[in-house]
Formats: sequence, structure tokens, C-alpha cells
Amino acid sequence: MTSPVRLALLGCGTVGQEVVRLLHEQSADLAARIGAPLEIAGIAVRRIGRDRGDLPVDPTLFTTDPLGLIKRDDVDVVIEVVGGIEPARTWLVEALRAGKSVVTANKALLAEDGAALHDAAAEGGGDLYYEASVAGAIPLLRPLRESLHGDRITRVTGIVNGTTNFILSAMDATGAGFAEALEEATELGYAEADPTADVEGFDAAAKAAILASLAFHTRVAAADVHREGITEVTAADVASARAMGCTIKLLCIAARGADAAGRETVGVRVHPAMIPLTHPLASVGDAFNAVFVEADAAGQLMFYGRGAGGAPTASAVLGDVVAVSRNRLAGVRAASESAYADLAVRPMGEALTRYHISLDVADRPGVLEAVAGVFARHDVSIATVRQGPAGGGPAGRGDDADLVIVTHVAPDAALAATVRELRGLDIVRSVASVLRVEGGA
Ligand code: NDP
Ligand code: HSE
Repeated sequence: MTSPVRLALLGCGTVGQEVVRLLHEQSADLAARIGAPLEIAGIAVRRIGRDRGDLPVDPTLFTTDPLGLIKRDDVDVVIEVVGGIEPARTWLVEALRAGKSVVTANKALLAEDGAALHDAAAEGGGDLYYEASVAGAIPLLRPLRESLHGDRITRVTGIVNGTTNFILSAMDATGAGFAEALEEATELGYAEADPTADVEGFDAAAKAAILASLAFHTRVAAADVHREGITEVTAADVASARAMGCTIKLLCIAARGADAAGRETVGVRVHPAMIPLTHPLASVGDAFNAVFVEADAAGQLMFYGRGAGGAPTASAVLGDVVAVSRNRLAGVRAASESAYADLAVRPMGEALTRYHISLDVADRPGVLEAVAGVFARHDVSIATVRQGPAGGGPAGRGDDADLVIVTHVAPDAALAATVRELRGLDIVRSVASVLRVEGGA
């Protein structure tokens, strides 16, 4: 058999330990698939003495010098499962410039400065693979960067954060509020001690940037993504969605469009939205991920599975390791970054969407006309209006009424301006909730 492909593993935490386990358990199969055995040259960690259970690996392989490990001549492939921007960027740029192949799960780095990694890969001639960075185990990036390269993708809509999907699913199933559902997610180990990156949408925005870059052949960074989290979603919003035959999901949406001059653009956003219960993404519950891709010739495609966890993520990492190892043995490299389209990123204000607005209004003649006038002034067409006694009960609250308005599609800027003006009206006691509606509800 040919000489081994030598691996430097950076990080041996939740994902890294499962990578080690899979490499051990499947070593014979992996060698047969690649045509050469895989061998761990070293494992860089922060704390050598940390308890890593019964990990099937030689303890002398551990080091606290990642850069020294990367620079070794006998390392062919660098696997990075540490996370964060620095020092991971320095390590990976160094490895790629030196011609090593890199496999990483680091969505934060790819979304912040993927350009630096792609440029270094082009310079060094090695491969850069990152299937595990979006939607864990789900084979998604390879289809986008290879299988669908004969087609024209028009839109990608996904649930790409497991923690928030667990929280929203729990709120939907039990009627719990956000805080209560977050507590449950933390107790069950879905949410991290600091859940900010998940609940504020940063994690999903990083993944949205990676998906949009691949789908639209354009460099999209996390900073280009409009981001809203789920902390403001209330039990009343969830109940209101149910009443409309919808559920609320944290969606990442990346879509082609055109600017005022007719030039093609791409819009990328992450925010909670109502989707109809009949939409394929509505039934994605618990901490699962799913991504819905629409392309001119292929039509609609759905990718579904586990988006997080040590073993599922390690599965995606190992798939990449096999691919880059085969390429090295064959003396070839995968197609480099495809960013030729270089589309401009559309501002959120130009996104076409629909709003669901709940108002607490004075219940007297002329109120509906005044409210409708605000929508008309901003050229926003109303699709449905539902009025009931304030508080939902038959007795209501004195002379107030609940007004629930769903709009037709309009630019987000016009919808936002409508809500701003409604908030300023005397007859509007409060704007109880504002949610976007996606997927044809
Ligand atoms: P962990 O926090 O569990 O593990 C991080 C590892 O990196 C640890 O082994 C740690 O060492 C090591 N490390 C941290 N800083 C340094 C440093 N300066 N030098 C050397 N080693 C260092 O992270 P995860 O395994 O959960 O995540 C890894 C990556 O995978 C991240 O990019 C994450 O976003 C991504 N990812 C994770 C998923 C998941 O479900 N966990 C899902 C999809 C992607 P030590 O062990 O000594 O502390
Ligand atoms: N925190 C992420 C999630 C992990 O909840 O989906 C996977 O990237």
C-alpha cells in the first residue's frame, strides 16, 4: 500500500474527539476508500492534561504547539476543529500557503474572512474543504459547490441552527415563552452556557454567508447578512402563527433579485418568520436542520438531518478528509473558489417580504380607515385583516380591540416604515408584534 496520508488535528473537543474515534474505528475502510492509510501526525490542544475519556489514540501525539505541528514536513492535511477567528486564521493561512490541504468546521472564520483562506489555498495549491461548517452532518456544501454547478440556484431557505429550532419547536409544542424554552434547551445540553451566538442569530448568519457564497458564486461575508435573533419571539406570536395555520422558524434566506437598475443582486438575511404548516421546513422540529434549495432546472431540493453534535459533525469532517486525501494521492486539487459572479449584496430594505402585524387599537369609528391609510401611504397592500376584542376573550378590554393585519409582498423598507408610522398613531395603543411571513402563507 502507498505511504500514509498524515493528518494534523487541531482541536480535540466535542468534534475533534469524534474525529479521532471515527479515524480509529474505520481505519481499514478509510484506507481502502482512499488507497492509502490515514495517520494522525499530532493533535494540538490547549490543555494536554484534560480528561478525554478512553480516546483510542497515542497520548504522546498531543501538543500545545499548533503552528509547529502545521509546519512539519510530514503533515499533508490539517483538520481544524478549534473554532474562532484567531489564531485559527493564522494557522490555516500558514497551512494552505505551504500547500497542505485543510478541512475545517469553522463557520465563524469562513464567514468573517473566507477570502483569506481561499486566497491562501490558491497560492499554495492545496484543497480547502468545509462541509461541517454548515448544517453538521448534512451533505449540503458539496452539492452546492459541485453537483449543482450545471444549474442556476435562485434561492436557498434554511433552518441552520439547531439550538434555536429546538427552542421554537418547544414554544410551539407547549406554549412556553422564550425564557422557559431556552432553559429547557440548556438543561438538555442543546444551548451553550452563553447562548448569544445562537439565539441572536450570529451562528445562522455565518452559515447563511457561506451558503450564499457557494450558491451565487459571490463572496458574501457575515457582515453582509441582515441578522435578527429569536429573543423577541413571544408565546403570543407563536399562538398567533398557529391561528393562521403557520409556525415560527428562524430562517436563513439567500435569494437572487434585481436592483432598481435591473442589475442582478443577492440578498441574505436571517430572522424569525412565520411559515405555513404545509411548507416542507415547518415539520423540521427539535434540533434538526434542513435546507431548501430552489434552482432553475432542478426545481426544489430539500436537505435534512442533524446539524450539530460531535459524531454527526465528525462524519462531515471525515468525508472531507477522504476527498482531499484522494486528491493528494492523485496529484490533483478540487475546483478552486467560484466567485466569478461577484453580485452586489442587496440591502435589507429592498428584500421583498410580507408582514404579520398585531395591533392593540382603540375600538371606535374611523380607526380601521386610519390604520388602512398608513398602509396605503407606504404603498403596502393589505391581504387580510382580523379584528377581535382586546385580550382575545369575549369580554375584551373596555374600548380596545386587537387588530391582526397580514400584508401582501412589499419591500421591507416600506413595511418597516408602515410599522414606524403605526407606532406614532394615537389610536394605536401598542404594536404587539411584527413578524415576517415567508413561504406563501
Ligand atoms: P470544543 O470547544 O469542544 O473544542 C475545541 C478544541 O480546541 C478543544 O480541544 C481545545 O483544547 C482546542 N483549543 C482551543 N483553543 C486552542 C488553542 N489556542 N490552541 C490549541 N487548541 C485549542 O469545540 P467543538 O468541538 O464543539 O467545535 C469545534 C469547531 O467545530 C468550531 O469551529 C465549531 O463552530 C464547529 N462546529 C461544532 C459543532 C458542534 O456540534 N459542536 C457543529 C458544527 C461545527 P482543550 O481540549 O485542551 O480545551
Ligand atoms: N450551535 C450550533 C447549533 C451548532 O445550535 O446549530 C452547530 O453549528
